[in-house]
Amino acid sequence: MTTLLAPTPDAIARAADMLKNGGVIGLPTETVYGLAANANDGEAVARIYTLKDRPQFNPLIVHVASVEQARELVDFNAFAEELANAYWPGPLTFVLPRKKGSPVSELVSAGLPTIAIRCPSHPVAQSVLKACGLPLAAPSANRSGRPSPTSPQHVVAEFGDALPIVLAAGASHIGVESTVVDLTGETPVLLRHGAITAQMIANVLSHDVIDSTLLEDGVKPRSPGQTLKHYAPRLPLRLRAVDVAADEALLAFGKTTFMGVRGGGHAKNLPADRIRNLSENGDLYEAAANLFGHLRQLELSDAKGIAVMDIPDTGIGTAIRDRLERAAGER
Ligand code: TXA
Ligand code: MG
Repeated sequence: MTTLLAPTPDAIARAADMLKNGGVIGLPTETVYGLAANANDGEAVARIYTLKDRPQFNPLIVHVASVEQARELVDFNAFAEELANAYWPGPLTFVLPRKKGSPVSELVSAGLPTIAIRCPSHPVAQSVLKACGLPLAAPSANRSGRPSPTSPQHVVAEFGDALPIVLAAGASHIGVESTVVDLTGETPVLLRHGAITAQMIANVLSHDVIDSTLLEDGVKPRSPGQTLKHYAPRLPLRLRAVDVAADEALLAFGKTTFMGVRGGGHAKNLPADRIRNLSENGDLYEAAANLFGHLRQLELSDAKGIAVMDIPDTGIGTAIRDRLERAAGER
């Protein structure tokens, strides 16, 4: 049985004990829910890969309580100092060289000489990190390839009884995974879009940032996870839809007044289980927070596919588009 635990001091102590003993728990963060285990314990990390059915060449993010703790694991550099000052704790992950003698298990970084590291701002994640005193490896708590979980119920839906406890802290505030930026070279390289945009990073560093998602395949830097099919619900997605086919569900954004159903009818009259709106007011932050939950709801309908309205390519909208394009197999 999976137990959903309200994050009381007792529950946090229990979670910390499990982590110290090699266990895996469901952990809320401000981006999405994670599957957390002691990053220094290879066997515990192996349990994460098994649970997720994740290919072992795809490395995990290490979560820490503070910059001081990060310095024990990776070589912090000037870029990292400046970005940590501006955005930690928060939804920004740095790829940095593994520090000599770093206790982090090699399995976490899948044999790479670098480690992805972030300091989450969610108060429950912070309490757990402090209570166990360990760095925590935590990928998103979904089976490999599926949409990320943004509620404790999503985590249970993915793992059922295979996961003994999930700390339940309601809906994830941001709803898309952290921005990942590689800081190992002369120019920072954005590996994954998130709430912190390339422009925000460039502004803090007063330095160019390369957006690797815009590069040709042959010259793309290595972020193993970004090459895989990802975030996909059980139904196929059709992006930039301007109408809905009779057998489709609709993932809307903004007003649907002009969306028609092919063969007659209006999108606004679709059966309730066939339509979800990411944000009726066109608010991109609201849309990000709703994205994965709405996909999970629509995949339960009897539709044959999901038509998705276009999302503006600005701010966190870039991250939403990225997730949708990968889910649709366009990247
Ligand atoms: O918001 C998040 O980052 C969530 C929450 C739970 O913190 N975690 C998350 O982890 O999204 P995951 O494992 O689903 O995604 C980690 C991404 C993958 O694309 C992986 O390939 C990349 O980070 N990554 C990890 N270590 C890396 C490294 N050393 N070099 C390049 N990319 C790396
Ligand atoms: Mg993931």
